[in-house]
Amino acid sequence: MENSYKKLLENNKKWVADQLALDPVYFKKLADSQNPEYLWIGCSDSRVPANTITGTDPGEMFVHRNIANMVVHTDMNMLSVLSYAVQVLKVKHIIVCGHYGCGGILAAMGNKQVGLIDNWLRHIKDVYRYHHKELDAIVNEIERAKRFVELNVIEQVHDLGKTSIVQNAWKNKQPLHVHGWVYDIHDGVINDLNVSFTCTKDLHSVYHLD
Ligand code: CO
Repeated sequence: MENSYKKLLENNKKWVADQLALDPVYFKKLADSQNPEYLWIGCSDSRVPANTITGTDPGEMFVHRNIANMVVHTDMNMLSVLSYAVQVLKVKHIIVCGHYGCGGILAAMGNKQVGLIDNWLRHIKDVYRYHHKELDAIVNEIERAKRFVELNVIEQVHDLGKTSIVQNAWKNKQPLHVHGWVYDIHDGVINDLNVSFTCTKDLHSVYHLD
């Protein structure tokens, strides 16, 4: 049982062999450079693997994942990924993808103290507070959690637009669209929430940066 990790290394050997059988210069091409068109900001949940559910290959998607796909403005990890993706890789689309049944969202809806993670969940609770009228009105808890997942994604799309990184790209006429999606772990389908941001005017004026 404790050796279960060895399976991963065996899988890797098989994968390398399979790729080389298809294309002998596969790794040489990948090693030369990466030119992804997409930045994915998703949940760390093991059931939501970015490449698998979008049918993308290595080299096609730059990825950042954390609990409940958050865009926290003091998170140096997220900001560094965002900055590199936008300013260096010049991705054309940033996708925030939440998922129904998200443990982070469910924990944030509750009042149980969990530990260190409470500090992370508090950012999610803030989203609940912004939308408490709509959420409190949903009696069914499962439906309320689903809507909370959606509203949280929409809020993170807003949060991306608030950053100087994204606003400067728009100011420099760099094509960059920010999208909000939700993945349904029950059927594997991704729903586009149609909250795409493409320029600064999609944001409240208080967030506009000159
Ligand atoms: Co999740």
